[in-house]
Amino acid sequence: AADITERKLAEAELRAAHETLEMRVRERTAEAARAEKGLRTLSARLLQVQDEERRRIARELHDSAGQMLVALDLDLYTVLHEASLLSPAGAEALERGLATVQEMSKELRTISHLLHPPLLDEAGLPSAIRWYVEGFADRSKIEVKLNLPADLGRLSHDQELAIFRIVQESLTNIHRHSGSSTAEVSVARSDTSVKVEIRDFGRGMPNGADILSGGSLRPGVGVQGMRERVRQLGGRLEIRPADPGTIVVAHLPIAADAPPASKAAEAN
Ligand SMILES: Nc1ncnc2c1ncn2[C@@H]1O[C@H](COP(=O)(O)OP(=O)(O)O)[C@@H](O)[C@H]1O
Ligand SMILES: [Mg+2]
Repeated sequence: AADITERKLAEAELRAAHETLEMRVRERTAEAARAEKGLRTLSARLLQVQDEERRRIARELHDSAGQMLVALDLDLYTVLHEASLLSPAGAEALERGLATVQEMSKELRTISHLLHPPLLDEAGLPSAIRWYVEGFADRSKIEVKLNLPADLGRLSHDQELAIFRIVQESLTNIHRHSGSSTAEVSVARSDTSVKVEIRDFGRGMPNGADILSGGSLRPGVGVQGMRERVRQLGGRLEIRPADPGTIVVAHLPIAADAPPASKAAEAN
């Protein structure tokens, strides 16, 4: 009889321990879900703040340093009109100074436009992508084949900015990591979605497709940022090995009430 009582006691203890454990697991799961939600809110906010900050710095560069360079350029031109009064060395220095000012203006303009492409708001995505790709090809010596439909039309501001940043980040990655001498960028639109593809023909991702599934490789800020932007817009991002190279594909849904491509193109 003592045996039975002892066993019953042990069973009760085991049950109690089991219940406590289950309660803890539930608490932890809820805690983890809260933490994840907090992180998502934070990363969304971070991307937004980064965009606003880039825009602010772009405007600041243009309005302050940019305007000062314009003033300096005009002043140097005034001196240039009196260059005959200068010594040969002075006249030479003046010309060098003018060239430097012009170079700086150009540089500043490029930096400011990369931070926030004005074409994106004014002329829309195709113009902005074309401008970016041309400059990229020029700076990186990577030949880029561009495939943009003539009737892409306008998307929402957030979608256009996301696509522009994805193209920018992917091409920068191709330049920095792939070793490829060519790349392809294409944008295609259907009634319900936009598909953006950026491909290179280089050495491929270090761990193949593992990068998005949170495998052993920790994705960098660039890939995580792209994934987050796409997620916020209800789409999905894939990074696939291609033989050779890598393909980044972003699918973004288009709202049912968005103007169809052809109408949007007519309106432009
Ligand atoms: N096109 C590519 N080809 C080869 N490897 C790439 C490519 N794009 C990204 N990677 C790899 O994925 C990693 C993460 O990229 P990313 O998140 O943009 O971070 P970062 O560019 O700052 O290193 C890179 O460090 C690189 O190893
Ligand atoms: Mg990167």
